[in-house]
Amino acid sequence: GRLVVLVSGSGTNLQALLDASADPSYGARVVAVGADRAGIEGLSRATRADIPTFVEKLGDYATRADWDTAIAARIAAYEPDLVVSAGFMKILGTPTLDAFPLLNTHPALLPSFPGAHGVRDALAHGVKVTGCTVILADQGVDSGPIVAQQAVPVLAGDDEKVLHERIKTVERRLLVETVGRMVREGWTVSGRSVRIGNDTR
Ligand code: GRF
Repeated sequence: GRLVVLVSGSGTNLQALLDASADPSYGARVVAVGADRAGIEGLSRATRADIPTFVEKLGDYATRADWDTAIAARIAAYEPDLVVSAGFMKILGTPTLDAFPLLNTHPALLPSFPGAHGVRDALAHGVKVTGCTVILADQGVDSGPIVAQQAVPVLAGDDEKVLHERIKTVERRLLVETVGRMVREGWTVSGRSVRIGNDTR
């Protein structure tokens, strides 16, 4: 299966997908990497792997709708079977959502702590367990049907950086496993949940 991955920062989730796709039995490969800003490590990771990249900056467009249309066209050029938003810090609108299935990974147990500061918010709330979530994105912020989740403990003395790194170790594995299974086995959306293959979960 053909993946287009969208990044805005370090791209370690992207790197995990690149590493996994080196094994032909994984069944998916990254055909392009897109970003909303230039000069980020995520783009360098793609270039080092000889994978085409594109950048579409919101500020280059007169309206958000124009940006949405432009980024959907860049994605479409690579004919993906699945688009994966991995640390992409923009909400994608209907031009993309209507054209492609879009997976998003979030460093909290949705519906708790959605948005750009899920790790900080969970820590501030004093939870003892947080985690990461893979969802099929809809027009909302981190609000689509849930595909996979995994819990991560919050430890005494954690700060946002330490906790986020602990979550990302789990998140990268969960994303790689989930993307691979969805591409190999297919999936169905049933209400607020997505079932992969003939999963009973
Ligand atoms: C991930 O934890 C993602 O869930 C969050 O930001 C982080 C991006 O990390 N939105 P990376 O760019 O994949 O290293």
